[in-house]
Amino acid sequence: MPGICIVGAQWGDEGKGKVVDLVAERADAIVRFQGGNNAGHTIIRDGEVFKFHLIPSGILYPGKRCIIGNGVVIDPGVLTDELDALKARKIDTSGLRISANAHVIMPYHLLLDTAGETKLGKLQIGTTRRGIGPAYADKAARLGIRMQDLLDEKILKKKITAAIDPKRLSLRPYVKDPSLDLQSMTEAYLTYGHRLERHIADTARIVWDALDADKLVIYEGAQGALLDIDHGTYPFVTSSNPIAGAACVGAGVGPKDVNEVWGIAKAYVTRVGSGPFPTELHDAVGEEIRARGGEFGTTTGRARRTGWLDIPALRYASRINGLTSLAITKLDVLSGFEKIKVCTAYSGPDDAAFTDFPYHQSVLHHAKGEYIELDGWTEDIGDCRTAADLPQAARDYLDYIAEAVGVPVVLVGVGPGREQVIWMQDSLPLAEAA
Ligand code: GDP
Ligand code: IMO
Ligand code: MG
Repeated sequence: MPGICIVGAQWGDEGKGKVVDLVAERADAIVRFQGGNNAGHTIIRDGEVFKFHLIPSGILYPGKRCIIGNGVVIDPGVLTDELDALKARKIDTSGLRISANAHVIMPYHLLLDTAGETKLGKLQIGTTRRGIGPAYADKAARLGIRMQDLLDEKILKKKITAAIDPKRLSLRPYVKDPSLDLQSMTEAYLTYGHRLERHIADTARIVWDALDADKLVIYEGAQGALLDIDHGTYPFVTSSNPIAGAACVGAGVGPKDVNEVWGIAKAYVTRVGSGPFPTELHDAVGEEIRARGGEFGTTTGRARRTGWLDIPALRYASRINGLTSLAITKLDVLSGFEKIKVCTAYSGPDDAAFTDFPYHQSVLHHAKGEYIELDGWTEDIGDCRTAADLPQAARDYLDYIAEAVGVPVVLVGVGPGREQVIWMQDSLPLAEAA
């Protein structure tokens, strides 16, 4: 059985949680490999809504290994709350394993995130203010605290002491009393360590064992390709690599352990936070897509910016991820539009025209979508379960996307519910099984 990596192919919130939940039924282990509780993955099962920020989306299946890999940054307060909420709903969380090497988000990371945004003023990134960037910065600066440190008072105190001094200095202009008390912080994080100890493990080994036994492993991405710190719309990005290559680093496996890469893309595009967005709609159509799609952030509740599907960006996402399959979600949201626009190229200043996603920030910031128009459909497609059930225009839209991106569409979302999907290629082993 293969290792399947499931990643966002746009700016996040593409419906990764739902797809992971679907495929996880067949898997032995599900591993989150990057990001932190900036993510918000929604799963709707029998009308019940679950929102996960840190816990992998496979947790609703009892007994599966759900792993928070070494590449994730963990706010232990958020994680324990998430565990409590699941227990209150009688969900078995005993299969959760947390990498001992995953880094910890500390109170000063949250303060620094907000201070950083304040400092940037109008230029702010629009982060989730969950401390993600500062936590990854400390990891790279070798001042990070790891989950295993929460299990040893002496080490924890030493590491917090080393990390905290430079924070006091940088926070001084922004926070009157940063209340960075070493003793109380150490005690609070030791308590988290005690609480989470039974879940902390050498998670890479668990993944290797599953792979060696020929079991299916899902690598669950957070965010999306265009928020990638290397390949996204820098600096308006997150502080990790949400692309498939990072699954190896963040789970502790090699490239040969990732056999398929599924890119999840909405039938249109959304973005939350600042930064370039060539196909953004500032009109009533954009407003309508937001309202119909319920495009408000799972984590912060912010209204998501909306726009038409951007083919050059999707082709770029396909290339940097090595996509083998596409899942197109929220096709139902486009029902009722007489015409559907698709961006096939960009125009820039001085009548420049280009079809590749621009690498240069000045070009990207001024890029505007050039569109073709496809026929829309009026039917409600929420009950369609096979490609043949879809109106011809909806099928044509999917065919167009697959052809333009050069990647087959294997799965289509026609509503938020777990059952509201269409498997497009029943020759795929997983499609048959699911
Ligand atoms: P993620 O971060 O990629 O897991 O996505 P989010 O959960 O943040 O946002 C996706 C939203 O769209 C959630 O509210 C899902 O319940 C919903 N959703 C997923 N697939 C579909 C679909 O095919 N149709 C509709 N209407 N909603 C969907
Ligand atoms: P999921 O996994 C959408 C965005 C923020 C901001 C930028 C940097 O649910 O798809 P950060 O807090 O990471 O430093 O913010 O990244 N962002 C997301 N946008 N979905 C997400 O996660 C996101 N996680 C971060 O809005 O623009
Ligand atoms: Mg989300």
